[in-house]
Amino acid sequence: MCGIVGYTGKKNAVPILLEGLRRLEYRGYDSAGIAVSTKKGTKIVKLKGKVRNLEDKLLSNPLIGHCGIAHTRWATHGKPSAKNAHPFKYKNFSIVHNGIIENWQSVKDELLKSGYKFTSDTDTEVALLCFYDLYKKTGITGAVTMLHRKLKGKYSFLFIDEKKPDEIIGIKSGNPLVVGENADAVFAASDITALLPFTKRAYFMEDNQFFIANGGSLKFYNFNGKKIEKKSKKIKWNVEEAKKDGYKHYLLKEIMEQPDNLNRAMAGRLNLFADELPGNIVPKGRILCIACGTSYNAALCFKYFFNMLTGKSITVENASEFRYQPFDLTDDSLVIVLSQSGETSDTKEALSIAKKAGANTLAIVNSWESSIARMADNKIYMNIGPEISVASTKAYSAEVMLLYLLSLRIAGEIGVSKEEIQMWKDKLSSVPSSCAHYLSNIDAVKTIAEKYYKKKNFFFIGRGIGYPIAVEGALKLKELSYIHAESYSAGEMKHGPISLIDNDFSTIAVAPDNKQRAVLFSNIEEIKSRMGQILLISDKPLDGCDYLKMPKINGWLSPFIYILPLQLLSYYIANLLGNDIDQPRNLAKSVTVE
Ligand code: AGP
Repeated sequence: MCGIVGYTGKKNAVPILLEGLRRLEYRGYDSAGIAVSTKKGTKIVKLKGKVRNLEDKLLSNPLIGHCGIAHTRWATHGKPSAKNAHPFKYKNFSIVHNGIIENWQSVKDELLKSGYKFTSDTDTEVALLCFYDLYKKTGITGAVTMLHRKLKGKYSFLFIDEKKPDEIIGIKSGNPLVVGENADAVFAASDITALLPFTKRAYFMEDNQFFIANGGSLKFYNFNGKKIEKKSKKIKWNVEEAKKDGYKHYLLKEIMEQPDNLNRAMAGRLNLFADELPGNIVPKGRILCIACGTSYNAALCFKYFFNMLTGKSITVENASEFRYQPFDLTDDSLVIVLSQSGETSDTKEALSIAKKAGANTLAIVNSWESSIARMADNKIYMNIGPEISVASTKAYSAEVMLLYLLSLRIAGEIGVSKEEIQMWKDKLSSVPSSCAHYLSNIDAVKTIAEKYYKKKNFFFIGRGIGYPIAVEGALKLKELSYIHAESYSAGEMKHGPISLIDNDFSTIAVAPDNKQRAVLFSNIEEIKSRMGQILLISDKPLDGCDYLKMPKINGWLSPFIYILPLQLLSYYIANLLGNDIDQPRNLAKSVTVE
C-alpha cells in the first residue's frame, strides 16, 4: 500500500530517496515525508499530498545527509494530513512503515498507561513507541526480535537511529521489502522499481527477517536474532521500461503498448508452457482461479473460454471473499492465482490457504520475485515490464492471453483434438496485430468521450464473453473518472436494474460476434424504449444507438480487442474531467492490506 525507501552510503541521501519515492508513488499518494541523519541529528520534513510537494519544500529547506528513510502514504489509520504523515521520530529513532498493525489500539492503551504521549492517529507511531519501549528494556536486537511478538498484522518497517547516523534497520513481517547494494551504498524499498536506477541486484526479504546496514556493511538476521545468509538476484527489469517514452501518461503508454506486450507474454508460450509447466497439470479434482479487481475480471474471461473449449466449468473466486469461506480444496485441486503486483494481500492469503490445503498452486504474476511468485508451486511471469499506472490495462490483456493458452494446455490434456488446439493457437497469434490495427486509429473514441464525459451514471452490459469485458470496462471508468458505473449481464437488466433507466442514464453495450448477440440487441431495444441512451460497441450497428465500430473478429478474441475502446474511453473521459490519470484518488497500485 504505502511505499517506503531507505538509503545509507557515501552520497547525499535526499535525491536518492526522492527518486525512490517518485517510483513508489503508485503505492499511495496521501502524504510524503523524509528523515535524514544530518550533522545536527535526524531532520524530518513531511507534508500532506504528493511527493512533488515534498520536493518543493526540500528545495526551500535543503537537507544533506548520507543516511535516511522516506515514505509515500496510502492512509489506513488517521486521515491524510501532515500530522499523520510519516516518518515519525521518538527519542533517537525514526520510522517509516508499510502495512497495518491490527492490535494498535490495545498496544497504544498499554503505552499510554506507561506514560507515553502520541502526536498522531496512526498505528505506525504506536509501533515506534512500542519499539522504543522494548529497546529501552532490551537494547536494539531485543527490540527488533520482540517487536513482532507485540504487534499483530502485516508490515515492513525502516528505522534510523540518531545515535548511529549511518545505520538503517529494516524489518519484514508480511509486507514486501527488498534490499539492494552497489559499491558504496545500501538501498531498501517496498519494491524493486525504486532500486532500478541504483543497482542491478536485489535481496528479497522473507517474512520474520530483518537487516542492519551501516557504512557499506549489510547483515541479515531472522527474528531469533540469528545471522542468516541471503543470496541476491539479478533484477530482470530495466530502468527504461519504467519511463513514459513520450506519452503524456503511463496509462496511455500501457494501453498503446498492449500489442507489443501481448507478443512478449506469448513469446515461447505457444508450446503451451511445456518448459514452465512440465508433466500433467490437469488435477483429478477442482480447478479454481482466484484474484482481485482487474485480475479477477481477467479470470472471468478464462471461465467462459475454458467452458467453451472443454464443456467443463472452473470456479472463479474473489480472493477477499474466498479467504473466509471454507472450501473443499484437496491435494488434487489446482488453484490458479492472478496478480499483477504479486503482493495483493487477499490473493496472497488465498494462495497460502490453498497451499495449506495441499492444492497444487500456479501463479500468473507480473512483478518479478514478488511474494506471490515466490510462494506458489509454479509461476508464469507475464514478461510485460513494470505496470506503473494504478489502473491496470496491459496486465489485464496479458493475463487473459496466458489464461487462454493455459486453457488450451489443459484442454489438450483432457482430450480436445490437436487440430482444434492448433486452430486456436493460430487465432491467438493474430491478436497482437489485430490490437495494433485497432489502436492505429482511435479518433472515434475521443469524439464519443466528448459526448459522454458529463454523464453521471452508466450501465455496462454484455452477454456471454461480452459480459466479463463489460465488467472490466465499468471498473476502468469508475477508477479513472469517478463516475458511477455498474456492469450487468444484459439478461439481468429486466430483473431490476432497468428501473434506473431514463434519458439521463447511459448504457454501454459490449456486443462482440457471439451466439448471444441477437438477444443482447433485444435487451438494448428494451432500454431504448425507456429513453435510455445507448453506446454500442460492436462490428454491427443498431438504429438509435451511438456506435463505436469494431473490426470483424471471432467473438472469443473480443476480450483483447473490445477492451481497447473501453480503456481509452475511460482515459479520455478522465482527461476531460481533469482527473489525475496515473494516480486516481483513493487508490493504490498494490493493495497490501486487507
Ligand atoms: C485495477 O485497475 C486496479 N488497480 C485493481 O483493481 C487491481 O486489479 C487489483 O488491486 C488487483 O491487483 P493485482 O493484480 O496486482 O493483484
